[in-house]
Amino acid sequence: MKEPVSKLLLFGATGDLSRRMLLPSLYGLHADRLLPEGLTITGTARSDHDDGSFREFARAALAEFLPEDRKDDAAIASFLERVQYQPLDASTLEGYGALAAKIGDVSGGLAIFLSTAPSLFEATIHGLESVGLAGDTVRIGLEKPLGHDLASSREINDAVAHAFPEARTYRIDHYLGKETVQNILALRFGNSLFEPVWNAGGIDHVQITIAETVGLEDRAGYYEGAGALRDMVQNHILQLLALIAMEPPARFDGTAIRDEKVKVLRSLRPIEAKDSGQLTVTGQYGAGAVGDKVVRSYADELGKPSGTETFVAIKAHVDNWRWQGVPFYLRTGKRLPARQSEIAIQFKPVPHSIFSSRGGQLQPNTLVIRLQPEEYVRLLVMAKQPGLDREGIKLREVPLNLALDHEFAGTRRRIAYERLLLDLIEGDPTLFVRRDEVEAQWTWIDGIRAGWDANDTKPKPYPSGSWGPSSAIALTERDGVSWTE
Ligand code: BG6
Repeated sequence: MKEPVSKLLLFGATGDLSRRMLLPSLYGLHADRLLPEGLTITGTARSDHDDGSFREFARAALAEFLPEDRKDDAAIASFLERVQYQPLDASTLEGYGALAAKIGDVSGGLAIFLSTAPSLFEATIHGLESVGLAGDTVRIGLEKPLGHDLASSREINDAVAHAFPEARTYRIDHYLGKETVQNILALRFGNSLFEPVWNAGGIDHVQITIAETVGLEDRAGYYEGAGALRDMVQNHILQLLALIAMEPPARFDGTAIRDEKVKVLRSLRPIEAKDSGQLTVTGQYGAGAVGDKVVRSYADELGKPSGTETFVAIKAHVDNWRWQGVPFYLRTGKRLPARQSEIAIQFKPVPHSIFSSRGGQLQPNTLVIRLQPEEYVRLLVMAKQPGLDREGIKLREVPLNLALDHEFAGTRRRIAYERLLLDLIEGDPTLFVRRDEVEAQWTWIDGIRAGWDANDTKPKPYPSGSWGPSSAIALTERDGVSWTE
């Protein structure tokens, strides 16, 4: 049952995520009258703002990051009336009393969103507890990174669990807030068409790609210690894989869906050091051009040589009955030629072709779920080319195309955080990641890293603007499979 809170507390309120995503998302919900009546938003961070200057900070963030057609002076003014600010050094206990006083009574419910360095988590939880901001009416949302391996993630989760039981802990993976990601559930379980062939009998292989054009940006401190495997595969890609591979849940609720996802994550076949060279590829971008933009190498941006991977490709397997023998090719990287996230599911070829080879090669059907930048679901099928067929029927692969942005053109596409912040405020955990899922994800990722360490694997250079090192192509070509592009 949903239980909306009456107060929201944002840690890291002056940070980049807050400016780009959180404040615009909260404004979007406010402007559409979706926030609970009277909900107050308290921002906190180390910066020395008062209510007035923080409102100006928030106003500037909205001016910079809201699309023009969403800027409404009256709505912005009424949104800012909800907002207040309390400076805090989260690492020491001293300031928490003043924070609690600013927030006041939390009997009507408080949702906390923690978007700070994980090194501050423990002290923050302790501080909140010390002033009564961790009781039954309080829930907490946690932004990544939640650790860099299983052990550190357990440490963070233990520290949080000390004050917040799992039912009041909301771990964010912003991919789960994306419409098209939720659409995977609609597609699979709202249609009877796919389920009978959604298994090793019907599917040849699955590809999941999250390609980005951006590079290091201003995140050297975090990214250099993380790399693509931890930054993208551990969370976003494995969540996509889990949604594609999970068994049908009995209900659409947080327990049923997450129970099924965790079973998949626990079924991922460990990648051992001896197979690591065959099953994984790592790369690091060199100088090059993305579109017409000339860009520097990773090491150049960083200012020193580095062994951090900015690209990773993996051939994974889910060891259960449904997916036996079906490879899941996963790939993500920075400074690739296009920003493009998609899942491609390739079905088995027809068992026997009745068409002569002159009619063109039969292509196996592929279902492409494009998450971004466009949103579509495309089923590639063989069709007859128009003509009299005097030399035999000619076939060509054509798309059955569901363009979601066109089909639902009248509906505004929301930032993923709008959905997730509203769910946090209302108390719906379905689209948040449960502790057992995170731990299963880390277990698999740690195994891969251990293999890289054992083999002293170094990322291969690839030019910016290319699809990664050539060995990433070889990873699939060895199996007679090409990456979709
Ligand atoms: C974040 C990663 O989780 O996701 C970033 O830390 C990455 O490195 C981002 O750029 C990608 O998100 P999106 O929504 O732009 O695909």
